[in-house]
Amino acid sequence: MSSLKRTQDKLVRTIRQQSTKIVAQRKKERQAEKENAITWSSVGHRFESFLDLLLDFADENMFNDVQVQDEINTAIATGYDTLSTVIPYTLMLIGTYPEVQEKLYEEIISVVGPEDDVNKYHELPYLDAVFKESVRLYPPVPFISRDCNEELQLKNYKLPAGYHCTIGIWAIQRLPIWSPDAEQFRPERWLHPESLPKSPGAYCSFSLGKRNCLGKFFSIMFTKTVLAHAVRRFHITSNIHELKFKFEILMKPIVKDRLTLELR
Ligand code: HEM
Repeated sequence: MSSLKRTQDKLVRTIRQQSTKIVAQRKKERQAEKENAITWSSVGHRFESFLDLLLDFADENMFNDVQVQDEINTAIATGYDTLSTVIPYTLMLIGTYPEVQEKLYEEIISVVGPEDDVNKYHELPYLDAVFKESVRLYPPVPFISRDCNEELQLKNYKLPAGYHCTIGIWAIQRLPIWSPDAEQFRPERWLHPESLPKSPGAYCSFSLGKRNCLGKFFSIMFTKTVLAHAVRRFHITSNIHELKFKFEILMKPIVKDRLTLELR
């Protein structure tokens, strides 16, 4: 009965319409490719896309159309919300620390060159370090939850079965195990792996284990591409310390006008 519910229904309809269109279009293309004996490897793609994997399952009757659609809707919702949070936070950090920005600019120009060769984006270790450090300090998913379905003995505590646990990613990634300057934005720490915490659970922005993030590698690739383009073209200024957050499922900013971009 509420206006909020009407808004929600409208937005859900928009996402569903979009994913229905994407699935229908890809099905049509696959039919044409089948008729012309085109495969993903024959056209030089190294990997099959996520949507094609789902449609392969559907061809083998392991998934029905609704399940394919649901997986695509999940990827759109999770992918959009996280990346539209991580990219502004990272740009704000770059804008707050001019020495990081200059180092990044020099790396991008010297490695990628004036032709903007995207095949070289994986050869940008400092950009990689900036991304990791940004997601360490400002994880878009600040905490996750699990139900404890059997008793679990931790080092100092016992979690009884039936308990609900909240795992604070934000807090874990600012613990002193990261070094006394854990609260500082210092991408250089990632260039010296021996100085990073030994515990494999210390960096958990994408979660860990069987239910970790499905979009981790896509996110890294996508964000690095956007950042490389932005830093090449713009001089960025900002002050991340003015940012205030609200904790929803994701950690969202609550102030506007946070970034200034000037053409270089
Ligand atoms: C920097 C960006 C991202 C971060 C930090 C992130 C973080 C996370 C985290 C912490 C989880 C675990 C949630 C939980 O256990 O409750 C998760 C799960 C998931 N993520 Fe991401 N995510 C990112 C981007 C993406 C993108 C781009 C996609 C899709 C294209 C995606 C798809 C998913 C899916 C489908 C799951 C659920 C996996 C499962 O339950 O088996 N994520 N993500």
